[in-house]
Amino acid sequence: MTLDDLYEQPEDLLLQGITRLKTELADQVLILGHHYQREEVICFADITGDSLKLAQQAAATDAPHIVFCGVHFMAETADILTSDSQKVMLPDPAAGCSMADMANDVQVSRCWQELNTVLVADAMVTPVTYINSTAALKAFCGEHGGIVCTSSNAERIMRWAWGERDKILFFPDQHLGENTAVSMGIADDAMIVWDPALPLGGNTEEAIHHAKLILWKGFCSVHQMFQASHAVTMRQQHSGIHILAHPECSRAVCETADFVGSTEAIINHVHAASEPQHFAIATELNLVNRLRIMHPEHAIYFLSPMVCMCSTMFRTDPQHLFASLQAIADGQQGNRIIVPSAQKEQAKISLQRMLDLG
Ligand code: 13P
Ligand code: SF4
Repeated sequence: MTLDDLYEQPEDLLLQGITRLKTELADQVLILGHHYQREEVICFADITGDSLKLAQQAAATDAPHIVFCGVHFMAETADILTSDSQKVMLPDPAAGCSMADMANDVQVSRCWQELNTVLVADAMVTPVTYINSTAALKAFCGEHGGIVCTSSNAERIMRWAWGERDKILFFPDQHLGENTAVSMGIADDAMIVWDPALPLGGNTEEAIHHAKLILWKGFCSVHQMFQASHAVTMRQQHSGIHILAHPECSRAVCETADFVGSTEAIINHVHAASEPQHFAIATELNLVNRLRIMHPEHAIYFLSPMVCMCSTMFRTDPQHLFASLQAIADGQQGNRIIVPSAQKEQAKISLQRMLDLG
């Protein structure tokens, strides 16, 4: 059945079809679901989680097939961490991440070369890539003594990275790097921003020598929609409200928040509240709506007055999930994600360094 045919099918039949295929393939397929997935997809996930938890689960499973309901870098990560005989599928191969697209291997290699005109990068700089990046950038980190981090372990990883070398080059998300460094007490004048469109990233040689942290000028188009003024308005409207933010939000937003954490940490924070409370949450809409349904005892608000949805996460719908499961049942490739083996080897080094830190 083609995708067009599936879109013609009544939704209840489609959902029944997914349930049937999932039962038939129970010992062959693990479905991983990121917290930003829509309800009618995440309900089929065997395991839900943030990027770290899902990477750990991918590394631990021996299921021959993994269907990753998430975005491209997550499926690539799963392919890197699984054996060659295991197959990883991304239901819609067009489900990318706009932040991951903000740094490519050509730009990062050029940045490294430029740093080498000022200092000895391989001796003085640890490259740290946010997991929201291509396999090529994870491989770059593997080759250059670097490491991967996620939103839930960035502090531990950055501490390790500074233990290795004097400076960190952090990409592609400026905000996660900056928010983590601020919480670790790094001074403002020890951080510079690297704009890949400018010579030396727009910095002087002196600033590069002085910097402890070089932050790539990248951001999440969803989390940049939240502003500190939204938090001010919320606090005026609801006294005692708790503001929870994802660290991909700007520093101004994170500094106004009562709690900053990964998607899984935000969920656990709301689960742990023993008394009914008012929460305003600065992260993707599908997750906030789910928390609202799970916790009717709390008043849960979306921090921004605008709709901030990850349109690429939203690409995975029941039709694409059904098609992936059907492809496995039919012995076909489906939308398999395969990281080239040379890249895979180096990328695994930087991912494994992260996993080994716990
Ligand atoms: P988490 O690892 O916190 O789930 O974040 C992933 C992501 O892409 C957030 O935008
Ligand atoms: Fe990428 Fe932002 Fe979507 Fe997360 S929310 S997957 S960082 S675009």
